[in-house]
Amino acid sequence: MPSRSRAALLLTLGLTLFPPPSTLAQTAPAAPPANAPYRNPKLSVDERVKDLLARMTLAEKIGQMTQAERGAVDRIPDDIRLDALGSILSGGGSAPRDNTPEGWADMVDRFQQQALQTRLGIPMLYGSDAVHGHNNVPGATLFPHNIGLGATRDPELVQRIGRATAEEVTATGVRWTFSPCLCVARDERWGRTYESFGSDPELPTLMTSIIQGYQGQLGQPGTILATAKHYLGDGGTAYGSSTTDTYLLDQGDTQLSEAELRRIHLPPFQAAVKAGVGSVMASFSSWNGTKLHGQKYLLTDLLKGELGFSGFVVSDWQGVDQIPGGYPVAVTTAINAGIDMVMVPNDYPRFIDTLTAAVNSGDVPMSRIDDAVTRILREKFRMGLFEHPMSDRSFLKTFGSPEHRALAREAVQKSLVLLKNDGNVLPLKPGARLLVAGSSANDVGRQAGGWTLSWQGQGGPVPGGTSILAGLQQVGGRTLTYVPVPAPGEARGYDAAVVVVGEPPYAEGKGDRAELDLSPDDQRAVRNACASAPCVVVTVSGRPLLLGDLKMNALVAAWLPGSEGAGVADVLYGKVPFTGRLPISWPRTLAQVTVHPEDPGYDPLYRYGFGLSTPKR
Ligand code: GLC
Repeated sequence: MPSRSRAALLLTLGLTLFPPPSTLAQTAPAAPPANAPYRNPKLSVDERVKDLLARMTLAEKIGQMTQAERGAVDRIPDDIRLDALGSILSGGGSAPRDNTPEGWADMVDRFQQQALQTRLGIPMLYGSDAVHGHNNVPGATLFPHNIGLGATRDPELVQRIGRATAEEVTATGVRWTFSPCLCVARDERWGRTYESFGSDPELPTLMTSIIQGYQGQLGQPGTILATAKHYLGDGGTAYGSSTTDTYLLDQGDTQLSEAELRRIHLPPFQAAVKAGVGSVMASFSSWNGTKLHGQKYLLTDLLKGELGFSGFVVSDWQGVDQIPGGYPVAVTTAINAGIDMVMVPNDYPRFIDTLTAAVNSGDVPMSRIDDAVTRILREKFRMGLFEHPMSDRSFLKTFGSPEHRALAREAVQKSLVLLKNDGNVLPLKPGARLLVAGSSANDVGRQAGGWTLSWQGQGGPVPGGTSILAGLQQVGGRTLTYVPVPAPGEARGYDAAVVVVGEPPYAEGKGDRAELDLSPDDQRAVRNACASAPCVVVTVSGRPLLLGDLKMNALVAAWLPGSEGAGVADVLYGKVPFTGRLPISWPRTLAQVTVHPEDPGYDPLYRYGFGLSTPKR
């Protein structure tokens, strides 16, 4: 328990037991009248913000700029009341003991009750990474990760996914998702490639339609605040430039001219601002050596000035701490650069004390604090948080619903890309005798990838999920033989072998790789199965993988399809045609990485935008 909070708690206890007659009245201004203008939904957002801001103490203003992790606050819920915290988040996998939709709603409502007991009763805003459905909560519908959605080239579908996700998020009391990632993934070795809609700005720009899905008519039932992240250039860092942990690319340095930075990485954020996105998350990465969290020209002059972004900028997880010069310098630099809310997220008393000292010393002007708080309050008023602060449990019926799972299955179908089909091995014949192999055929955790029930994700079953093998059995209409790594000749006698290869789940820099080969077991599975039967290789991965000299009749990229593995079977059996197109170039060799259409002599194994259609039977 942070020391400051313990002292605050003792003080509260003391004051509660023996309240000195006049001290309390002197230290905190009186509560505003119930009919204070900021409480009147008939007034404009700007009028309400102006009235409320004028009533706030410095402590209350800084409280609004503070976002704490639920685990840090859970120990002392009073801190929400004491520090008037503006926001609480669940990091990846950070869940209440009762990890059910109802348990989440109870947790968020409990925190909200604390916030509403503060002097001004400003509701807190609860955020979570719902990046491919409400992936922190068991039983949620898990949609394909963004790289697969980019392959669909269907912004209307992606908007519907945003809406469905918003409904499941709303059911749990959460009102803010740290999504979409509008990163433009330029190097397949980056661990966040799968969070990108594509390697060219056109697809992340096109898929900002998900913001409309999340936010809709913000404030209406089932709408949540979206986050355009990570601003700016997170997907363009130079290989080997990261100084974080053992990372190779993630949180590294984007070494580009301003013209190239604007050409490649800015368009999706321009589109997001135009779409009315309520928040933007700053990137951990740097631009030519300066941490984005301290980059005033990009955060303020460009994003808020030139692009006219009127929402608020939230830092990434302890992103402020990465600014060099010591914590006080880091806090002052970040706030003055344009960070409005700080995802501290654990030692928030230290942040509050440090920023308070910086304002009192004049290092951070009150005008900057007022601008940040204005931006935060504006979004809280816009989204109706003051009128509807508690969870809307009417959406619990949508959580993991058949309708949402059908939508996810449609997305899986449209995300598959047919790269090769020699001898028209595809589509498979219903009832065919198949040998199914590979590391990712019978593992929903691997097909869902990172950001699934935990930060990094994990192999194995996922509540409500259907594996690709189960999908093949359902759609193909027969029980199939599954051998992860068949022996030489073991596929002989089968109509075909389907080898589903892939990567274990990962997230962020922990997924950075120096090579992109299949695992030895998957390579053996492909060699042995494809040597003795017509074979289809399906890749379940967050990015293109290198296939070296492996031979196969057919090759399908399934990306990270999420919970609805039957969607893969629908297309393999020809129930639905292949329509997906590559959202990123597929390199021949590691030496080619990075490889883009604008490169001289562009010659990948499969080009950006490539994809075969299903042959007519
Ligand atoms: C992580 C990620 C960011 C995420 C945040 C909260 O470090 O960089 O995308 O939204 O922390 O989990």
